[in-house]
Amino acid sequence: MVFAKSIRFKITILYMAILAVTLTSFSGMLYHNVSTGLHENMDTLLKSSAGGVEQAIDTYWQASNIEAIERGEKPEALRKRRNYNFSKIAHRWVKQESTDPRLLDIIIQIFDTDGNAIASSKNTQNISKIPDSDFISVLQGKPRFDTINSNGAFEAMKLRIFTTPVFEGEKVAYIVQVASPLSSIEVALNKLKVTLFILFPLTVLITGVMGAFLAKATLHPVDSMIHTIHQITAENMKLRLKVPETKDEIQHLAETFNDMLKRLESAFSSQRRLFENLSHELKTPLTILKGEFEVVLRKLRTQEEYKDTLASALEEINRIAKLAENLLLLARFDSKESFPEKRALELNALTQAVINNIKGLAELKNIRMNFKKAGSDMLLTGDESQLKTLILNILDNAVKYTPNNGIINIALYKDDAATAKISIDDNGVGIPGEELAHVFDRFYRADKSRNSTGFGLGLSIAKSIAEAHKGAIDVKSKPSGGTIFTISLPLS
Ligand SMILES: Nc1ncnc2c1ncn2[C@@H]1O[C@H](COP(=O)(O)OP(=O)(O)OP(=O)(O)O)[C@@H](O)[C@H]1O
Ligand SMILES: [Mg+2]
Repeated sequence: MVFAKSIRFKITILYMAILAVTLTSFSGMLYHNVSTGLHENMDTLLKSSAGGVEQAIDTYWQASNIEAIERGEKPEALRKRRNYNFSKIAHRWVKQESTDPRLLDIIIQIFDTDGNAIASSKNTQNISKIPDSDFISVLQGKPRFDTINSNGAFEAMKLRIFTTPVFEGEKVAYIVQVASPLSSIEVALNKLKVTLFILFPLTVLITGVMGAFLAKATLHPVDSMIHTIHQITAENMKLRLKVPETKDEIQHLAETFNDMLKRLESAFSSQRRLFENLSHELKTPLTILKGEFEVVLRKLRTQEEYKDTLASALEEINRIAKLAENLLLLARFDSKESFPEKRALELNALTQAVINNIKGLAELKNIRMNFKKAGSDMLLTGDESQLKTLILNILDNAVKYTPNNGIINIALYKDDAATAKISIDDNGVGIPGEELAHVFDRFYRADKSRNSTGFGLGLSIAKSIAEAHKGAIDVKSKPSGGTIFTISLPLS
């Protein structure tokens, strides 16, 4: 059943069917051509034999006429038509000369214009009596071919007959009929038929077997690919298909499949990392909460102590809530469920608002923030709250990773007629070159030893928001220390 559905089977059957159709038409054509060729040859032979007979009899007749004229007979009396002498001459010639090897196998009959046989070669036993209707047409001067089934002294056989009138002046003098058995042609055609009948199924069969073998050889790599694919599971994503060096679609398929596996493997492993990171992020505050509660519950505490513990617990709970909120946001971006609202916004004002929000935090560290607005209005459509989060996350990092008394320069400008850029340039701790590529990864925190309070989600959220607005974020390390983040957003 499986084999019947396999490509191998289909190819083989198709192959055989095409061959069978081709061979059938080829054989048919061959048979038809050979058959017509042989029959035409036979007709030509009969025609020329009839001509030969006519000429030979004529020569006989002329010779005997010379004697008759010498005997004093009048030339007008010497007509072939209904001439007793002619009948005798024709009869004699046919008896003597029809043994000529060229006329072997040819049956000769001579008829007078009344349809009576005046001479027949010795192998003739009433092979035919020309039917009257046909006889009339021959008498009118029309030679004719007939094929008849003879059953005289011969075994039943097919005869090809040529009947032609011979003229003397304007009038038909006598009729020559030559015939030949079609048996040699039939034997030849039968042989051809048998050869074709044997060759036909044999060729189809051999081609079928070879086709199946070839298809199997060609598709063999697919079998081994299927075998390998069966072994690939989520836990076993390292397996790769063996790429056959066939430089064809199958090699291409194997390569494409391997590419897909690579992408899936990296997606799987990033999911796994995400899961690990998430568990870790959840575990930390929960452990802290558990520890604090256990300590407090060990004995009765003062009101003050309970209050402190609850306040600290609230802090951890807020952290967990923030984590959940961030993850939910990212999940929504991933599933494309979160469409940014499309409202007209002005970026100078929006950036200023975010800077105002974070100012307090910067002041705590005595960090100076310089904002260089764009010269003109920077209009774009987008989601106000999302864009605020985007800028805030980057500004928050700048403040977080810049030591006390640092400087943050914020500039808003048009890069070209259609793009707004916001650059946020700090002189903080900077990001090592090899880590730059990862800062947008979820839960990624550069230099893990640095004790940061963040989850490592701020930049991935910022990136998702930028992309949802058809924008981008770029990050560069400054050789002098510090980092520049540049947000690009399309203007309306
Ligand atoms: N301006 C910056 N200067 C130096 N390092 C930075 C800066 N911005 C980001 N980083 C590095 O990139 C990492 C990822 O930043 P991201 O904002 O995603 O996470 P986070 O700030 O650690 O936590 P979260 O933003 O979720 O509270 C940071 O942990 C930090 O190591
Ligand atoms: Mg951050």
